[in-house]
Amino acid sequence: MGTFLWDASMSVGVKEIDEQHAELTDLINQLYYAYMEGDEHAALADLINKVNTYAQVHFATERRYMQPYISEIPNFEEHMQQHRAFFTDCVNFLLEYLDKGTGITPELLDFLTDWWFRHINGTDRVMGEILVKKGVS
Ligand SMILES: [Fe+2]
Ligand SMILES: [Fe+2]
Repeated sequence: MGTFLWDASMSVGVKEIDEQHAELTDLINQLYYAYMEGDEHAALADLINKVNTYAQVHFATERRYMQPYISEIPNFEEHMQQHRAFFTDCVNFLLEYLDKGTGITPELLDFLTDWWFRHINGTDRVMGEILVKKGVS
């Protein structure tokens, strides 16, 4: 799949969440291009750490928005599980690369991009529709 860019068609209807999605998308694209262009380990390490940190901030933001409406969000637990799986399935591999020099592969970066695209357009969209109905924007 390669890369993708956030655009208005991916909006979930909540400004702060949309802005964070755009920022994360940009970081993941930067990592993808840096890897493909053979950038040095330090440059990749910097981007991997940023993706890790920013994803944690972002998931906490979504949780904060959902908190008042948890009982009304049908896929809340599944949503939290997907956030946790993002680290176990993907980010931890990237962090291992920093620690132990294990390889990054194009497949892993495709997985990262694909995960993000599907999560925003699926699970996050369900959350957004409920938040917008509650008057959050
Ligand atoms: Fe999200
Ligand atoms: Fe999410």
